[in-house]
Amino acid sequence: MTILQEAKEQLNKASSVGETEELRVKILGKKGKLTEILRSMGSMSPEERKEFGKMANSVRSEIESLLDEKFTEMKERQKAAKFKEERIDVTEPGIKISLGSKHPITITIDEISKVFMSMGYSIAEGPEVETVFNNFDALNAGKNHPSRDLSDTFYITDDTLLRTQTSPVQVRTLMKQKPPIKVISPGRCFRCDTPDATHSPMFHQVEGLLVDEGVTMADLKGTLDSFAKKMFGSKTKTKFRPHHFPFTEPSAEMDVSCFKCGGAGCRVCKGSGWIEILGCGMVHPNVLKVGNVDTEKYTGFAFGMGVERIAMLKYEVDDIRLFYENDMRFIKQFK
Ligand code: DAH
Repeated sequence: MTILQEAKEQLNKASSVGETEELRVKILGKKGKLTEILRSMGSMSPEERKEFGKMANSVRSEIESLLDEKFTEMKERQKAAKFKEERIDVTEPGIKISLGSKHPITITIDEISKVFMSMGYSIAEGPEVETVFNNFDALNAGKNHPSRDLSDTFYITDDTLLRTQTSPVQVRTLMKQKPPIKVISPGRCFRCDTPDATHSPMFHQVEGLLVDEGVTMADLKGTLDSFAKKMFGSKTKTKFRPHHFPFTEPSAEMDVSCFKCGGAGCRVCKGSGWIEILGCGMVHPNVLKVGNVDTEKYTGFAFGMGVERIAMLKYEVDDIRLFYENDMRFIKQFK
């Protein structure tokens, strides 16, 4: 078989750039077949050499151009394969990432906080494990106050407990800050309650405390009325009923006109037209004294509201336990 024929056959079989390069070396390289033949020309007569050389050169250039063609073809093929491999279908739908949503209790706390922040309040925080002193004594709760009972409060030791209210943050703030004081404090509270539709041993409150010179009950009523209008709608009316808390004097509970029926009476307000929303009052001098506040110069008001209760009324959730079951079908409805 002639070198040219052999080269053609082998080139036909080559299927990659690498294989083509191997062939080039084998045929045209220093130790290649053609080179070998050209070398053997030394022993030929001048005429023979002329004739043979001409032939060998034309074979060589033919093989070179065949190699060139093959290289081009193989490179094209390589490129096409790479394109195919790396091709992305931009119309293919992406992988769906399911986004979480805020818990209704968090949404409610955020809403309450936003209203008070717009009135210049800042957020104070306190621990869920509290001292008996901060949770009861400093808040003027008598030694025999029923809420101290073992059956109502989770005690950890004789003088530590899981706070039963966010009110101890009032004490912490008064001991840390000088008036003027203007804070709210959202957080978790705990009481020994058997869970049912309206009770949970863990729940949330938002506490509020304002202490300054010349603060009166009128400031308390104005502030909370304005909160109610921002939270439940501008037509909301408020009503203050006398009540008793150890840490305020006088104390009151605030009702808002039903935001579902506007006061006519419905399922949400149980036909009364009013909904009880929070406890409040003028801070008792005994509480102010714990923070060494000059009670001749300063007065203040405080309030506390149950977050679950507000969320239940607002979203018409009829069982508090739904908030803690982590059922996504429930939680996702509050986006
Ligand atoms: N701590 C009270 C409770 O858990 C709520 C409360 C009432 C807080 C009156 C206050 C307040 O700050 O002034 O029932």
